[in-house]
Amino acid sequence: MNILILGSGGREHSLAWAVMQNPKCDKLIVAPGNAGIAAIADCAALDIMDSAAVITFCEAGSIDFVIVGPEAPLAVGVSDDLRAAGFTVFGPSAAAAELEASKAFTKEICAAVNAPTAAYGHFTDAGAARAYVAEQGTPIVIKADGLAAGKGVIIAMTDAEALAAVDTMFDGTFGDAGTEVVIEEFMEGEEASFFVLCDGDTVLPIGTAQDHKRVGDGDTGPNTGGMGAYSPAPVLTDEIAERALNEIIRPTMAEMARRGMPYQGVLYAGLMIKDGQPRLVEYNVRFGDPECQVLMMRLGAQAFDLMQAAAEGRLSEMQVNWAEDHALTVVMAANGYPDTYEKGTVINGLDALPEDSSNMVFHAGTAKKDGALVAVGGRVLNVTARGATLAEAQKRAYAMVDQIDWPQGFCRRDIGWRALD
Ligand code: AMP
Ligand code: GLY
Repeated sequence: MNILILGSGGREHSLAWAVMQNPKCDKLIVAPGNAGIAAIADCAALDIMDSAAVITFCEAGSIDFVIVGPEAPLAVGVSDDLRAAGFTVFGPSAAAAELEASKAFTKEICAAVNAPTAAYGHFTDAGAARAYVAEQGTPIVIKADGLAAGKGVIIAMTDAEALAAVDTMFDGTFGDAGTEVVIEEFMEGEEASFFVLCDGDTVLPIGTAQDHKRVGDGDTGPNTGGMGAYSPAPVLTDEIAERALNEIIRPTMAEMARRGMPYQGVLYAGLMIKDGQPRLVEYNVRFGDPECQVLMMRLGAQAFDLMQAAAEGRLSEMQVNWAEDHALTVVMAANGYPDTYEKGTVINGLDALPEDSSNMVFHAGTAKKDGALVAVGGRVLNVTARGATLAEAQKRAYAMVDQIDWPQGFCRRDIGWRALD
């Protein structure tokens, strides 16, 4: 098969790595890709938000199957347009992608199926939002309704912070994403991510992970897109996973089908777990980044069979072949991230590292310039390893990190601490 992956991050590198290993893959193209992806697949300069351009590309390249990596093209309907043009696509419709694109939509679905989640209010004007904050008290969580690249969430510990957050949301700081605001109860507990595939009907769990959102060791400093992850997440025991499936995920998928917007693709449920009870924090309609990297490391080539079965409505025939292993990824980012950082700095030392089914450096913001590997993004490398234990995976990943020569980059030194404690 000729397979096209849309995206350019560490997530897409790991998807490409897994797909390449599947014997069904004759040709793999990633658009737009990055320097690491270019070493294992063809990369194509393509505006992945432009359905017409993607369709023309697929027709010219005899593409059989498209995997959409990030949420933005899903939210604007690229998967719908590709399907309408006759292509098989892994990824939800724009209507179903509302589960990530609109927090108010997700809260309303949760209410309709009684899924455990934070109590909330949905507001379109600042006055009503301020009154709700005053009534509920703090801590409280204030969220821009739409896609805000993970930046539209403010956890307010005091009334003053909460009111300031409401004003920020309505003054246009988050663009259109802020014209509607969801205000939520602050949930305590431990967060974990649960990944399932869905074909519109059947739900198939494919793994759990935990991310490290803060930039600094000990979970300090500002939030980022994620500084490292590991799988499985021990906090998400089989029993809690079953509760999450029965109380949250399956009812949501059934409600989506009932409303005429069946969900097809990967669903990533962010859960807050306390006293054995999972509650939904949010849904994402794509793989997490860097969570995907650890999931792909553990699933390997079968990941493509599973995605294909989801896209073709055959998930009920599938099962996941689990290895009793652990995977861990350490994100290396450019100094300064998540604020401003330098671009174009040179990275050395990668050539000497092992690349096999237990050790991989997935690239995010990298490019080749005059023969050298240079950093062109905030999050740049995902140093990923597998082991029989999490401790072993961690040791291997940091052993690789220590061989990478990139003075203008940094990483957290404590990825995995929660599970290893
Ligand atoms: P979201 O974009 O909705 O995932 O929110 C980003 C992060 O904010 C989550 O991963 C949580 O760490 C935190 N968060 C969001 N909503 C809540 C909540 N209701 N209670 C506690 N923490 C939350
Ligand atoms: N790592 C968090 C996310 O992908 O949303």
